[in-house]
Amino acid sequence: LMASWDRNTIILLDLVKQPENARCADCGAPDPDWASYKLGVFVCLNCSGTHRDLTDVSRVKSIRLDNWEDDLVEFMRRNGNAVAKAQYEKSVPAFYYRPQQHDCVVLRDQWIRAKYARQEFTGKNGHLQKAYSSGFCDGTLWKKGKNKRQFQKRRFVLSQDDFTLRYFIKEDSKVAKAIISVRNMNAVFQPEKVGHQNGLQITYMTEDRTRNLFVYHENGQEIVNWFNAVRAVRYAYLRKALAPANDSELMPLLTTRSLKEGYMEKTGPMQWEPFKRRWFVLCSVDRKLLYFKTPMDALELGAVFIGTEAHGFSVRETPTRGSRGSRWRYGLTMETPDRNFIFMCEQELEQRDWIKAFQQVIAQPLLPQHYSSKEERQYNCVIIHNKHISK
Ligand SMILES: *[C@@H]1O[C@H](CO)[C@@H](O)[C@H](O)[C@H]1NC(C)=O
Ligand SMILES: *[C@@H]1O[C@H](CO)[C@@H](O)[C@H](O)[C@H]1NC(C)=O
Ligand SMILES: [Zn+2]
Repeated sequence: LMASWDRNTIILLDLVKQPENARCADCGAPDPDWASYKLGVFVCLNCSGTHRDLTDVSRVKSIRLDNWEDDLVEFMRRNGNAVAKAQYEKSVPAFYYRPQQHDCVVLRDQWIRAKYARQEFTGKNGHLQKAYSSGFCDGTLWKKGKNKRQFQKRRFVLSQDDFTLRYFIKEDSKVAKAIISVRNMNAVFQPEKVGHQNGLQITYMTEDRTRNLFVYHENGQEIVNWFNAVRAVRYAYLRKALAPANDSELMPLLTTRSLKEGYMEKTGPMQWEPFKRRWFVLCSVDRKLLYFKTPMDALELGAVFIGTEAHGFSVRETPTRGSRGSRWRYGLTMETPDRNFIFMCEQELEQRDWIKAFQQVIAQPLLPQHYSSKEERQYNCVIIHNKHISK
């Protein structure tokens, strides 16, 4: 008996090395260690946790640690990730977010439930896609008060007709508290910041400032549907706005994660003002460094556009000096055509990570959407949006 288990383990280890099985069927993590012998997919330990909850559709075993009967191994051989994908991901909408290894739990969990338990993408349950594909979404979310810690129930309405997201203080309010254009809107899951596993940060522009909204829904399926509905409406908008851009150019723009976030200390434009601790957010897609007083602030205090080296932008380590009022020791200087910024980090590792992140943005080519008008594009000049940066 021992010998037959060993033989089956060897067959499985061989199967999981094949290119189509070498990554988790659900999140793409390399070298999956687990397999669902009801679905015929190889998955990572993280994703196997969700499969374990879906007892009606999936059963998981460890490739190495569990015993495998001959018929189950044969089933895995006949199926595998490519066969399952053809069936369960047959009709995933182009804008629909496919989670990756390091994405938050709710995204990966709901993707697995949508694929196998609800079978939203097999082509048979098209009606289930209406929640995010119809271009209209109306429902209640918990929203953090602008200057308060508490979350309050608010009605949100997303509409592709006029490319807006509105929210209302009361269920039956006639007038929206805010009408948000999807033009500069972003949505990103932020469970740690929001303090809820389904926490979502929505960002948009008000006049010339970035505004944050923090929301959540108790139900994971609902919040992931909202997230994908936002992506769908952004997709429809950007297809028009950036025509004739193709899908592979548009997909990275639907919703974006910041490249790096964290506290640094900054001084003012004269560089003798006292250093203050600020929460910085570096966005590579729109080449912006934003800063806030705290991670959950509603309004940005300042924004710096980051151009390329050819436009006079660079970043370097700053030698430690007896800096006025900075408690933190690890400095970096970002040079821009307007002025130099000095930032101080608490840890050397942070300093290196920030320098690397800035270098990455500076090295990216400028794209048409980084220019605010046709003329700027024509004359290849960079717009510097540093309107209130001295705060
Ligand atoms: C497992 O999931 C968490 C998020 O829930 C993620 O941060 C982590 O990177 C994942 N681990 C692996 C090994 O993929
Ligand atoms: C999309 O457009 C870009 C730029 O025009 C091009 O390089 C790329 O090959 C296109 N991709 C597809 C899938 O057509
Ligand atoms: Zn996985």
